[in-house]
Amino acid sequence: MSLVDRAKNVIMTTYGTFPIVFDRGDDVYLYDIDNNKYLDFTAGIAVNALGYQDKELQNALIEQIGKFTHCSNYYYNQPSIEAAELLVKASGLDRVFFSNSGAEANEGAIKLARKYGYLNKGEHCNKIITLLQSFHGRTLGALTATGQTKYHKGFTPLIPGVENVLINDIDSLKNAIDDTVCAILLEPIQGEGGIYPLHQEYLEEVRKICDDNNIVLIFDEVQTGIGRTGEIFGFQGYNIKPDIVTLAKGLGAGVPIGAVLAKESVASAFQPGDHATTYGGNPLVTTAAKIVLERVSQKEFLDHIKSVGQYLKNRLEDLVVKYDYVKEQRGKGLMQGIEVDLPVKSVVSKALDNKLLLTSAGTNVVRFVPPLIVKEEHIDEMIKILEVVFEEVINEN
Ligand SMILES: Cc1ncc(COP(=O)(O)O)c(C=O)c1O
Repeated sequence: MSLVDRAKNVIMTTYGTFPIVFDRGDDVYLYDIDNNKYLDFTAGIAVNALGYQDKELQNALIEQIGKFTHCSNYYYNQPSIEAAELLVKASGLDRVFFSNSGAEANEGAIKLARKYGYLNKGEHCNKIITLLQSFHGRTLGALTATGQTKYHKGFTPLIPGVENVLINDIDSLKNAIDDTVCAILLEPIQGEGGIYPLHQEYLEEVRKICDDNNIVLIFDEVQTGIGRTGEIFGFQGYNIKPDIVTLAKGLGAGVPIGAVLAKESVASAFQPGDHATTYGGNPLVTTAAKIVLERVSQKEFLDHIKSVGQYLKNRLEDLVVKYDYVKEQRGKGLMQGIEVDLPVKSVVSKALDNKLLLTSAGTNVVRFVPPLIVKEEHIDEMIKILEVVFEEVINEN
């Protein structure tokens, strides 16, 4: 029996998985078990920041495995302290809680904001405002925060006290503000929802509303964080500092880690016993985070992302000019999307047939989130394949 058939027998059918089994990666390429080579513009969904087989990351992980990989949070371990110090230094926030995923980071942020509201205004102050079209993860709190009903179907009742408002619409937000609101949670650039950047003026007003009403501003930077937009954090591109930031994906560059960062006055709402996770910040995953943060914090690395990000943007804008079915380019740095008047699922699956890994976002957006080490030549290679894919999709329809 093939591996794909064996998988179909035993793995839950939660994903629309393609019938391909990957075996190894190298640089920005993945190889399947038949040794076919794929150009990777998905990067494990904006995860594999350093590409594949990064020697420094590999060696650090091997060395750590040789020592120990876990000891619980009853005790400290050096890699987690160092990774937290790097996060604090890079963000200007004060404290870190390590989780294991993005959804779990958002759960932690929601709990922290509620505890802050409870301590500062009372039990009634527990409402979280999030945006329509947003995506915050699949656990129940994060799922409720996710402003897309298609993800909610079959899982009600969701958690009480979450309200969605329109993206980039300050009046919609203002109408939802009252003394029950403890936090506003948003992605600076919506990822899964279809690569929609929030507007500068909008975020400035959101910051002011939070300041005026003692509301906690939470940025979900699970996708935008750790260099993806050309800054270490997406918020740095807006020059607007949130009170809490959630991270995951690129932070571990392939090992599962998430984090909640918070400023002191908010972080101190958590007291011993309030929040925990067994694996959180173990020395294996924080060793990876440390290497990633050291690398991504280098000016040359961020300059590289900005420069190739601009190149990718230009090449995608060219497609908007060239093909009338490519409607719009959106995004920042190496988080880009094009809105297409084509069946986006066909684009993604034909790309796969042509050995290019792409993913979609929203209903009609092709998303490009390659490893952060991608070069211009890879972008040229990708565009060349994409043009063939467009032609195949058009011919088929
Ligand atoms: C912005 C955002 N938040 C949260 C999540 C959930 O992260 P995870 O899948 O690690 O739970 C995602 C995943 O795509 C995301 O893009």
